[in-house]
Amino acid sequence: MGSVSVRNVSKDYVLGRTIVRALHDVSLEVERSEFISIAGPSGSGKSTLLNLVSAIDSPTTGEVFIDDIPLKSLDDNGLSDLRANKIGFIFQTFNLIPVLSAFENVEFPLLFKRQGSVSKGRVKDVLARVGLHDFMHHRPDELSGGQRQRVAVARALVTDPLIVLADEPTANLDHETGQAVIDLMLEINRSAGTTFIFSTHDPSVMSHARRVVRLVDGRIVAP
Ligand SMILES: Nc1ncnc2c1ncn2[C@@H]1O[C@H](COP(=O)(O)OP(=O)(O)O)[C@@H](O)[C@H]1O
Ligand SMILES: [Mg+2]
Repeated sequence: MGSVSVRNVSKDYVLGRTIVRALHDVSLEVERSEFISIAGPSGSGKSTLLNLVSAIDSPTTGEVFIDDIPLKSLDDNGLSDLRANKIGFIFQTFNLIPVLSAFENVEFPLLFKRQGSVSKGRVKDVLARVGLHDFMHHRPDELSGGQRQRVAVARALVTDPLIVLADEPTANLDHETGQAVIDLMLEINRSAGTTFIFSTHDPSVMSHARRVVRLVDGRIVAP
């Protein structure tokens, strides 16, 4: 559990009469517990690829499988379950809810879980794990960029997902803080076996991945 398979996927965006082909026949196998980077310059298709894996968007052709289940076979309930239970997301711009405390931001995804009740203990544990135990009652505007991204990491992990997708998680952080966030992700990968797929255009960030997949103009190129 925790594998991703992208098979011959292309994605076109239609803008009026123009068609932008953002991905060309991309295939990628990610095994459980991998720590893999999708690297490429701006506009190479990194976000598009992550959005297809998370089923935020669907491919024009080709198929995406999570744990051998084709995403196109899932109805709305199936997709909600997938997002609530199997996949966690970390975004470049943190995407925290400004009026909620760190605790409430991390608790938020648990409200969508159908089974089980919200565990305050679980929220506290995850916040402690990312080093924010003493900041749980702070709102995002009372936290530094690095602390905000740690809240976002905690929010991605609170549902105990098998797979975490992170779209340029360090792009809005200085070098050292970005490094600390990658180290935190690595530690969780090692201890919990969570699969991580993260995109970046920063060579020093991708050097921490165990495998780097390079995208150029929507195609996977040889390393
Ligand atoms: N919603 C969209 N509508 C039209 N074109 C898009 C859209 N999203 C991305 N694109 C285009 O698809 C290509 C890949 O974009 P993206 O996946 O965002 O790349 P990256 O994340 O690597 O910067 C770019 O040419 C971009 O302009
Ligand atoms: Mg992007």
